[in-house]
Formats: sequence, structure tokens, C-alpha cells
Amino acid sequence: MDWPKGVDGLSYGGDYNPEQWPEEVWDDDVMLMREAGVNLVNVGVFAWSRLEPREGEYDFGWLDRVMDKLHAGGIGVGLATPTASPPPWFGIAYPDALNTRPDGVRQVHGSRDTYDVCAPAYREASRRIAGALAERYAGHPALAMWHVHNEYGSATYSPHAERAFRTWLQEKYGSLDALNEAWWGSFWSQHYGEWEQVLAPRATQYLPNPAHELDYKRFTSDAMLEHYREQREILREANPEVPITTNFVFGQWVPVDPWKWAGEVDLVAFDSYPSAPDERAEQQSALHADLSRSWAGGGDWLLMEQAAATVHSKDGAIAKAPGRMARHSMIHISRGSKGAMFFQWRAGRGGAEQWHSALVPHAGKHTRMFREVVEFGGALPGIAHAAGSPVEAEVAILWSPESWWATAGAHLPGPVDYLENVAQIHRVLRDRGVVVDFAAPEGDLSKYSTVIAPTTYMLSGAAAENLRWFTAGGGRLVASYLTGAVDEHCQVWLDGYLGGLTDLFGIRVTEHLPQPGGELRALWNFGAAERFCELVELRGAQCVTQYATGDVIENQPAVTVNPFGEGEAWYVSCKLVDEAWDRLFEELQLAGPGCAGVDVVDRGEWRFIVNHTEREAQVGQVVVPAGAWTVDKRP
Ligand code: GLA
Repeated sequence: MDWPKGVDGLSYGGDYNPEQWPEEVWDDDVMLMREAGVNLVNVGVFAWSRLEPREGEYDFGWLDRVMDKLHAGGIGVGLATPTASPPPWFGIAYPDALNTRPDGVRQVHGSRDTYDVCAPAYREASRRIAGALAERYAGHPALAMWHVHNEYGSATYSPHAERAFRTWLQEKYGSLDALNEAWWGSFWSQHYGEWEQVLAPRATQYLPNPAHELDYKRFTSDAMLEHYREQREILREANPEVPITTNFVFGQWVPVDPWKWAGEVDLVAFDSYPSAPDERAEQQSALHADLSRSWAGGGDWLLMEQAAATVHSKDGAIAKAPGRMARHSMIHISRGSKGAMFFQWRAGRGGAEQWHSALVPHAGKHTRMFREVVEFGGALPGIAHAAGSPVEAEVAILWSPESWWATAGAHLPGPVDYLENVAQIHRVLRDRGVVVDFAAPEGDLSKYSTVIAPTTYMLSGAAAENLRWFTAGGGRLVASYLTGAVDEHCQVWLDGYLGGLTDLFGIRVTEHLPQPGGELRALWNFGAAERFCELVELRGAQCVTQYATGDVIENQPAVTVNPFGEGEAWYVSCKLVDEAWDRLFEELQLAGPGCAGVDVVDRGEWRFIVNHTEREAQVGQVVVPAGAWTVDKRP
């Protein structure tokens, strides 16, 4: 399916909230959009209270006028279903349909994302507003795509959710005996005698059961998917030609498994909000882009939101220096995004996000920011042709949302930061110029020569077999500490961990050795490890390097390699520092044309270069000025 429908080339625009502004601003908006080269805007994302001011009573007049104006201006619309923010009347009429926190407190309206995805009243109201929008706008010429909901992620621990959870568990396990066994129910007297005794993992006295928590995340992902599907079917029926999506957001708290969801959307859409002020923002953006492309099966995807200037993160507000908006956008476009979209078009005067940056800042069009927006929008049509070919990658990093979720708890064998470990591999390879894909633990690995599996704490039997098959067939597998520590039920893999793959790696892991923070453990000729080491027993593998210091581990294997079938399995039994990973990748001859601060992505006959540094960069014959980007024919 072609998406967004009727929008040629790369999409450029953002969330547009005309309902927050008097009508006289709308003409100005369309004029400025045209000046900036905007061709797609997302409308109505949080507009429920203006679309259905009273239950069952609709006010579409304003939206009709907005859609018509945008169409007349040649701008496509991603029309949102506004279900991420039910109106006040809804919360008053159906208080039980707003979400309940793990501590049992039921939330009230006043912000957004306050809904209980399992509450019948919310589901019904969602279907109703989606149906009303579909009926009215399915045939509108401005309609380029449907944007269902916004950033699914608000979990709930309500009685509605609890009931749905039990049904989900019954379908999954078939019997309470199977559930008790999978959850290791005899520990701390948690053996269930009736289904009704199973609760959502609400606040409890001390450490919760990790298997219970993990199943709840899986369940929540599925429950949200049901909510999405209900709307999708209504919209699809009204107009099968209009693509349908929802925007993914990134965070360990987000109970959505994008590998499962990606097949349910017509385009993978992602909101990228790097949280770092320094060059890690570029690393995070590249990570987000490579993940999104991989969820999309290697094909096109769409950067649905990013900040034009100031970003609000947990570290406070961070300004974007001149040129950075374009460079971040180019990180995404070069890595497969079919455009660059933003939150939001016009900066709001009021409300909780009044200080969030926008394409049109509070100070209006005569600003540095808007000039950059116009300049970048003007450049995009000239590179659209180059963004057509696929991004080629020979190396994949395993991305396991379930390992991320499962390492969120406080019960782990030591400090483990799954995301940081994945990001570290991505960062070191990016600095070596290597563009990578991500792969699902149980996904197709056949097109990769090397697969790197950082701290894949949870390994299902099927994923373990997948890795075995990949390596036996000639692949090079590189796994790091805590690989396959537990199975899909959070139960420990016995007799050497490693997801039962002790023969594949030619080793057994016999002890976990968390290390004091801040101390380095030197490896012979290989840099150092920090924070976590394992005691490894060789069972056929060769030792590549050993620990030079450390009580139990001194002179014990730190990195090993084992030939297996046509391939080989490397194991890194510790958390290496960046330099040590770099040293290992040198040994594995993983290198590409880019380098630290200079992204180079080859696509078909085209080469994208983004120079984030303050120096001129030379890549082959091409010289890229400081802070600039280019798209040229590949040498
Ligand atoms: C998210 C939302 C937007 C906006 C931005 C601001 O991505 O989808 O509506 O709130 O965050 O950070």
C-alpha cells in the first residue's frame, strides 16, 4: 500500500492543532506550511472534547473547514482518532474507565493518556468516535492516512484489566496448574487455587514475582493491540485505500512489543525524543531510526514526531543548536524514514506543553527557527529519489523487548542495563562506520553475516534454536554476559545458563560475579570490563582473552570463541568498556565508511553523509562542511 496516500516524495510536517487557535490563524497556517514545503500534518490527535463535546453529539464543522483548507493548500492529512485523551464528560460518566495505578489509585481527567484500555465503556466510546470520523472523512480528498490513538503506553491495573488478564492467562496456560508451574508459584506461598485469586501485579509489600510482571506486560501489549485493531477495522471498512498506523514511543515503561505490532500497521511510525544534551542525542536518534526500520522489516518507515528545537527530557529542557534539527532529520531519513515529521506545527500559547518547541515558534515566522524549517523543507524534494533504495546491513543486533522488560526488576543477579548494553554495541559500531539492523530473537537472521546479542537475559527455547540454526549455517554470533540466563517464564536455564546453548558456545557459565561500581577489571591485551563478570568453564571453546585481575576470575576466560557447524559463536562474559568492544570489532573486521561524528549510509547508488562535527569531514572524494549533510552518488 502506498503511504501516505497522495503525498509525493518525503513527508514533511507535524502535529497540527487548529482547534487550539482562532480560525483567523488557520489561513496563516496553510500559507506558512506552503512556504515551508509542508505536505502532511496530523490533525485531531487530542481533539476528542472538541469533536464530541457531549456524549454522542458531534461537532465536525471546524474539522470540515480545516480539512478543506488543507486540501486547497495541497497538504495531506493524517487524521487521528483522538482516543489518547478522553474528554472530561467521559471521565465523569465512566470513572471506572480511566486507568488505575499499580497502587490502586484510580486517576481522573486533567491530563492526557488517562484511559483504561480494558474498560468496556472506553472501548465502546473509542469505536464510536472512530466510526463517526470514518463515516465523515473516509472519502475526503485531504485524507492521506489514519493515525490511530497516540503513543500506546498507558498501563492500567483496574478490575477490568484484572478480569481480562485472567482470560488471557487461561488462554495461554490452559490450566491453573500450568500457570502455577510457569510462575514458580510455590515460592513465597504464591500457589493459586482459583483463577479469581490472580490479580494484576499491583503494589505489594516487597519484590513482586518477575514471571507475573512479565506476563502482565505481554498481556497489556495484547490488550492495547485489540483496542488498536478495533479502530483499524472500522477505518479500513470505510476506506480500504487509506493507510492506517499508530505512532510507537520508546521506553522501558511502554508495554508494547513493536515486533508483534509492526505487522498490524500499514507503516511503522516512530516518535524520537533523544534525552541527552550532547552527541549522545545523535546516537540515540540513529538507534531509534535503525530500530524503526528493522521493525518495518527493513523497509520504509516514518519519523512521526521529533522536536524542532527545545526538547524536554528528564534532564530538563535542552536547546537544539542551529542545523541540528536538519541533521537529526537526516539521520532518520538516511536510515529509512520516508520523511521528517514533528511535534508540533505551531507552538501552543497555553497548556502543559506550551514550552515545547514547534516548527512555528511563539515569535512567529521571522525567527531563526522558522528560517531553518523553510530551508530544510526546500531541500527535501531534491533528495526524495535517493531515499527509495533499501538500507543494506550485514550485521544485526538482537533486540529483545522482553529482555528489556525482564531486566526492569530489582531481583536481578547484579546491575544490568539492557538498553545501555544494546546502545553501547550500536554506538561503537556506528563510530566504526557500520550501519546495523536490529533483529528479533526469534526472527529471520539469514541475511546477516554477524549477529550480536547483548545481554539477551531472556531466551526462549525457540530463540535459542534460532541462534543455533544461524550459527550452524555459517553465521557469526557474538553474545555477551547474562545471555539466556532465564527462559520465557523467567525461570533460570540450568546447568550453565546460556539458554541451554552450552554446546554452541563451547562453555558453561558457572557463576555470576557483579563487580563494585567504578572499578575496572583488566583483560589481557583487550581493555577492560566493569560492573559484571562471569566465571566461565571451557568445554571446547578457545579462550580469546582472560581477566588479568579479580579474586575468582583472575586468569579465567573473559572472551571465548567456539566453531560450530559452518559458523562460530563468540562469548563475552562481562560488561566490556567501549574501547574493548572496539578492539573486538577490530578483530572481527567490522568497519564501514563512516566514523565518530560522521554518519555515512549507503543506499543503492546513493550515499548519505551527515557531519555532526565542527570540522570539515572528508569521506572518499566528498568533502562535507562542518555541521552539514550531503546526498551524492556512491563511489
Ligand atoms: C509525545 C506526544 C506528543 C507530545 C510530545 C512532546 O511524543 O505524542 O503529543 O506530547 O511527546 O514531548
